[in-house]
Amino acid sequence: GVAHIAIAQDAKPNYDESKIPAYTLPDPLAGIESAAQWPARRKQILEQFAAEMFGKVPTDKFNAISVKDAGTRKQVLGGKATMWQPVITLAGRDLNLLVVMPTDSQQAPAFLAYNFHGNHTVLDDADIPLTKNWVRSKPDNRAREEDRGSAASRWAVEKIIDNGFALVTLYYGDVDPDVDDGFENGVHAAFPDKPAADQWGSIATWAWGLSRVLDFLGTVPEIDETRVAVMGHSRLGKTSLWAGANDERFALVISNNSGCGGAAISRRRIGESVARINTSFPHWFCDNFLKYNDNESQLPFDQHMLIALMAPRPVYVASAVEDTWADPRGEFLAAKHATPVYELLGREGLPADEMPAVDEPSQGSIGYHIRSGGHSVTEFDWTQYIKFAKRHLMNEQ
Ligand code: GCU
Repeated sequence: GVAHIAIAQDAKPNYDESKIPAYTLPDPLAGIESAAQWPARRKQILEQFAAEMFGKVPTDKFNAISVKDAGTRKQVLGGKATMWQPVITLAGRDLNLLVVMPTDSQQAPAFLAYNFHGNHTVLDDADIPLTKNWVRSKPDNRAREEDRGSAASRWAVEKIIDNGFALVTLYYGDVDPDVDDGFENGVHAAFPDKPAADQWGSIATWAWGLSRVLDFLGTVPEIDETRVAVMGHSRLGKTSLWAGANDERFALVISNNSGCGGAAISRRRIGESVARINTSFPHWFCDNFLKYNDNESQLPFDQHMLIALMAPRPVYVASAVEDTWADPRGEFLAAKHATPVYELLGREGLPADEMPAVDEPSQGSIGYHIRSGGHSVTEFDWTQYIKFAKRHLMNEQ
């Protein structure tokens, strides 16, 4: 087994740029000179991320989804949107989808995103059942009636609809509860063996779930599965990046405040470090990732290469000024250092050379902004994602 190097309880996170250890970023284009060579290099990088960080899916055996409840459709938002709640089964687990789409849509592009606390927190609607699964930060880890619509400010549902997109969301705990349970619950219960050192942690499991939801969306006439933007915040932003890296069917990828293990450069060790994330959340990554606790220089990659795995597809990285735990500058640098791959493939990459001013987005094939405020998803964030997605998925300027 791999030794788990614990960090001292009193080790303070560093926020001081002048105390960042000297580091050299691995070159995503190492050994290649032409676009034709990128797919082989891409495969190598993807395999390294799978084996050393997120973990591989153990088997394809449980990939099939079935429809448990086709759900009924009802009009919401004064009739301009249709709400639909199909339930699909994956590896013995029920995934309760909440779909809100423009009424009468045919082949609409969509945002697909997990929610943190259950579908009933996204929209205040009595027809949305409370999740019966384990939920974080709630008494008894149970969903509550009083939380209906409590996350609504993080979901610009009406704006999404008004711009011609559908929203597909589900509770991430439907796939795997976010707790270090020895991989006995969630979809893991269907898999006979505990994950090996190079096999999935929960982030890779959630990412796999997103791909299976995309499989289902391919059967839905109202939604165009070739124009699905996968979006996630924080740990779920780490998840959307890994989903987009693994599954090139995702047409666009959005990381909102994903930080360590997501868009932020690990070698900077600003805010949350590899050792800290592995200690606080031992179930998120594969056990091989423990080798890099306080040992980031040995990583065969850094997070700019995760961003580069999206190329040439559009990818958006967003930070928030007060979200220093997630290292906004490290997130910007990952977007910037993914740019040479986009350029090799004939795309613009990130237009900004320097970190943009607060609330002034830079959007090419890579988008980036740092907005005012803290760790959250806001109207400002969605306004940028919708603009970016309209340009790339609807051909609008
Ligand atoms: C913690 C964790 C982060 C994570 C965040 C979240 O702060 O350290 O890595 O992104 O939770 O998911 O909100």
